[in-house]
Amino acid sequence: METFTIEGGRPLSGSLRIHGAKNAALPILAASVLADGQFHIYDVPHLKDIDVMLQILTNLGATVSHVDGCVSLETTSVSVSQVPEDLMGQMRSSIFLMGPLLARLGEVTITLPGGCAIGERRIDLHLAGLTALGAKIEEAEGYITFRAKKLRGTNIFLSFPSVGATENIMMAAVLAKGTTRICNAAHEPEIVDLQNFLNAMGAKIRGAGTDTIEIDGVERLRSVSYRVIPDRIVAGTHLLAVGTTQGHIQLSNTIPEHLTAVIQIAKSCGVEIKNRHDIMEIKSTMRPRAIDRIITSPFPGFPTDLQAQLMVFLSLARGTSVVKETVFDGRFKHVNELARMGATIHVDMGSAIIRGIGKLTGACVEATDLRAGAALVIAGLAAEGKTQVEQIHHIDRGYERLESQLTQLGAEMARLSI
Ligand code: UD1
Repeated sequence: METFTIEGGRPLSGSLRIHGAKNAALPILAASVLADGQFHIYDVPHLKDIDVMLQILTNLGATVSHVDGCVSLETTSVSVSQVPEDLMGQMRSSIFLMGPLLARLGEVTITLPGGCAIGERRIDLHLAGLTALGAKIEEAEGYITFRAKKLRGTNIFLSFPSVGATENIMMAAVLAKGTTRICNAAHEPEIVDLQNFLNAMGAKIRGAGTDTIEIDGVERLRSVSYRVIPDRIVAGTHLLAVGTTQGHIQLSNTIPEHLTAVIQIAKSCGVEIKNRHDIMEIKSTMRPRAIDRIITSPFPGFPTDLQAQLMVFLSLARGTSVVKETVFDGRFKHVNELARMGATIHVDMGSAIIRGIGKLTGACVEATDLRAGAALVIAGLAAEGKTQVEQIHHIDRGYERLESQLTQLGAEMARLSI
């Protein structure tokens, strides 16, 4: 088992390049099975979830390598329509294969996906979307099979702008007959990136980043080379780490427009942020000011994936703040762990009331999910004394060697095998 040990109390300083976005790379890799040929996908981070996706693609018949952030994929031999059960169970994003495999092979079989334990994560919108495109669903002995000789374009309304369902429907609809319109689609930058990737392959998609996405089905797509967008959640994590520990850093390979809500909130709490081209300069010299109320919501709102990290930042603020989580139930598991470090947070009806205190104290804590784990690392950086973070395999799912990133910024942090 591996853990992080962190000697807290050192302000962050220096420069760091932000790696490519996991949440953009995963659907893009899945979408590669929509065409035959050789793909080169650049800036794909070396993460557990990416490894699982590449293993799934290999099992489906693709030839795959991942060297220095470049995934090279040959998809011509993809012919297997069943996603292996053990890999399906390791990562929720394995459901991204549903749409592309159905479009390519006319059939796909899956089991229920795994992933971070962050409340109820249903897949009903994915199923409803694929059914609306003409897929027939059969369930037997824990397996779900979708079949459709040819998918047909239609209008699909999502009752919630689910990121994954929007992406799955886009990937299924690109090879459908006719036009598909997704209403109340998710707006996240990763959806725009998927549109750009698919259009580079020859798809006809417009509207990503708005409420309505229109997809005119095409006969076939071609393989391409593509670079994924930078990871806005990793950049936001470092931004909040500097706000919490104080210090002065420069992040390169960032797109500030992807972090507008986060930048605005951090600035209102006293963090200085300047953007120049793809460089974000972040400086903090004082304890943050508290903030009345922040609600997590789909993009362009404050991202649920930075809620835990924000909570650590606010636990050291002057005054009391309220953070309401609206995207996922049960995404407050970090609260009990932060309490071990002295944070005073009270959860009531989906809101966390955070009374800012002067200091956190190092402790032995457990990462309960990916972003909760990142939050505990930030708490450890700010705390007095030594912090040990356990169950860091969760953190490795979304941050490429977080300890190397943070030691590059002057943190005293190490990965230990115990
Ligand atoms: C994606 C991100 C994840 C982020 C989340 C919200 C990836 C790989 N992961 O997850 O990091 O936290 O967006 O920004 O991109 N829902 C349903 N039925 C469905 C699908 C979703 O009820 O069929 C609900 C979920 O239970 C959840 C909410 O919708 O409460 C948001 O989920 P969704 O937007 O689908 O998130 P993911 O795509 O799973």
